[in-house]
Amino acid sequence: MPMTTSTDAFGIVCVVGARPNFMKIAPLMRAFAAEPGFAVTLLHTGQHYDAAMKASFFAQLDIPEPDVDLEVGSASHAVQTAEIMRRFEPELDRLQTDAVLVVGDVNSTIACALVAAKKGVPVIHVEAGLRSYDRRMPEEINRVLTDQLSDLLYTTERDARNNLEREGIDPRRIRFVGNLMIDNLLHSRDLCPEPEAVLSAFSVPARFAEPPGYGMVTLHRPSNVDDPQALGALLQTLGDLSRALPLIFPTHPRTRARIEAAGLDRKLRDDLLLLPPLGYLDMLGLMAGARLVLTDSGGIQEETTALGIPCITLRESTERPITVSAGTNSVVGTDPARIRSAFDAALAGSTAGRIPELWDGRAAGRIVADIARWAAGR
Ligand code: UD1
Repeated sequence: MPMTTSTDAFGIVCVVGARPNFMKIAPLMRAFAAEPGFAVTLLHTGQHYDAAMKASFFAQLDIPEPDVDLEVGSASHAVQTAEIMRRFEPELDRLQTDAVLVVGDVNSTIACALVAAKKGVPVIHVEAGLRSYDRRMPEEINRVLTDQLSDLLYTTERDARNNLEREGIDPRRIRFVGNLMIDNLLHSRDLCPEPEAVLSAFSVPARFAEPPGYGMVTLHRPSNVDDPQALGALLQTLGDLSRALPLIFPTHPRTRARIEAAGLDRKLRDDLLLLPPLGYLDMLGLMAGARLVLTDSGGIQEETTALGIPCITLRESTERPITVSAGTNSVVGTDPARIRSAFDAALAGSTAGRIPELWDGRAAGRIVADIARWAAGR
């Protein structure tokens, strides 16, 4: 059931679909619950559906069960996006909502924004204006198009406004509010298990808890994992690094499938330890104790900046430049020499950073208060 049922409440459908959406919607659901006057419907598209990719996040983040689950599952980009649209449209007709709120840049984000915009339902995009300027990333296409369709655009860093204005977005629609991902991180810090507890829960060999400690790896971008040769080369580099610092690698289902299909799991060194996908709190607990993180994730670039842990980004570009200019992030691509040199710098302790502006744990409150003002003026 929607959170508030008063007839003159402002109806808002909040959409989630994939893992990185869940930690952004959690603080928003808390903030909406504290603000009378909204009738919130939580809709899950079902883009991510495995217990490890969805249910554990809902439980650990204390997100209410979705009011609607479209259960779309996995498919090609076109089929997945189309299927979300096909299933979302009748729900939108049924719900008669005043606005649709989408977060991030996954296929669920663009699919639901497009359906709403064509029906004349206002679209609110949280995490607007981030750009990698690399259209080979499916997320970049989702970002550009979602922003074009949006009536309210909430940004996490100041640069995002310039990106949006360059694309002709009306500046009056853009609001810099900070970062929901960090709201959630700060909210959850005290709930996280100690790194040692996670290591022992997953039966990680004792040497990972001993000096010099451990690093973490996450990889799931198609450009890194879909081509067996590129993936093999990257795993070789990571394997070499793991001799200096043991590396823990919770694997996304897509990555695990590619590693197994290419027979690469048999070649992995013992110090590059594959784990199943971790729940939010375990991941945060383990990350907080790591010496460094190697990743191609967007969200982890932000979380490491907030935690003050060196991040080595295995991509050619980032849509989150504040994590480089202010935070602890080095974007190095996949060249082994560049990865090695960033790794050595991180281990030597020469990566320092500061917390970016408005990453203070209060973004959700700002967003909800701003939507309330906007709704009142309509
Ligand atoms: C999606 C997002 C990406 C985000 C990532 C986080 C898009 C375009 N991509 O990528 O931006 O960083 O989520 O995880 O939306 N699978 C499972 N179980 C699941 C979900 C997926 O096994 O619960 C496997 C399936 O084999 C599926 C593959 O993972 O085909 C890819 O899933 P998909 O949702 O298409 O994209 P992600 O790579 O997860």
